[in-house]
Amino acid sequence: MTAPQTEGVKAALQAVYNWNYAPELDQLRNLYANALERQWIGMRDLDWSQPVDREAFSRSFSMGGIPVDQTDFWANLPADTRWEISRRSAAFMLSNFLHGEQGALFIAGQLVNAVPHMDGKFYAATQTLDEARHVEVFAQYIARLDHVYPIAPALKQLLDRVSEAESWMMKVVGMQIVIEGLALYVFRDMRNTTKEPLLKQLLTYVSRDEARHTGYGVKYLSHVVPTLSEPERAELEDFGFEAARLLIDSRSGLSMRDAVLGLWKDVGLDPAQVVAEIAKEREKLRAAVERTGGRMGPITGFILPTMRSVGLASERIVGHFEDVLVANNGPAARELMSRVRDLPEDLEAWVMAGG
Ligand SMILES: [Fe+2]
Ligand SMILES: [Fe+2]
Repeated sequence: MTAPQTEGVKAALQAVYNWNYAPELDQLRNLYANALERQWIGMRDLDWSQPVDREAFSRSFSMGGIPVDQTDFWANLPADTRWEISRRSAAFMLSNFLHGEQGALFIAGQLVNAVPHMDGKFYAATQTLDEARHVEVFAQYIARLDHVYPIAPALKQLLDRVSEAESWMMKVVGMQIVIEGLALYVFRDMRNTTKEPLLKQLLTYVSRDEARHTGYGVKYLSHVVPTLSEPERAELEDFGFEAARLLIDSRSGLSMRDAVLGLWKDVGLDPAQVVAEIAKEREKLRAAVERTGGRMGPITGFILPTMRSVGLASERIVGHFEDVLVANNGPAARELMSRVRDLPEDLEAWVMAGG
């Protein structure tokens, strides 16, 4: 019996008419105009004519934020093994992005109904189309590598929660701030490191859209959070924290690293031995891991700065984040909190800065 192809989830929301059609939130109106200007077509604007460059593809292999490709262990594996592990790992990662993109497609569509401002509805309409395109191009690219892997349970749980949330602000925090924040951070890193031309091109287009989506969350929430009562604000930041925790806490079952290690087994290598071999070259990797922040990079490097910039990072919630970092990485992780930076002013420029 094959697995069912469809599955239901409750989409809770209050749809809101707005009878004022005049521009109201200029920043969102401008973002909408910008989104219209920047539309692209996956099948026309990306060069699908070339087969995947296997050598280039396996030259830039990282696992859970660790650039394994810089180790002697990796260099000494047969080229075929490097390609097999690279393509499966990438298909696994990209499959979760793909499922996340489907979730984003849902939520953007829900926001068209649920947000109260017309400028916010217009913008969400463009994001809906952006997400359809992302689902389309990721599915096409994965087909060149491997099959689509099932959604990681914690990501599914998070998408369900955001879909089931009544409040449009919770949907924006869950999707535009946390899920898309994490995606943007990871896409940027992957885009900057990959040597595979089509993947680089695809991630460039997708990340530009995602920078805009996060920008929407930041601009919209910056406008509404100051109008909330303290209990409402606290509830919203709790929702953001829980969403982030689901994505990064290895105790919640979505440890990308463990799942990716399982793929080594499929190509005939012992995962425990792989971990031991990589650990031997820890010193060599330290600088690179410090640059990306490793697995916790998206939290300190992006999600927390974003939450802070919209007024959703009280001392209480920052403490919660610190606890998760320490539970996953040990007490030394406390130091990471002192390195939380400000959110870059121009998100698109930040994405493209890596070359
Ligand atoms: Fe997307
Ligand atoms: Fe998005």
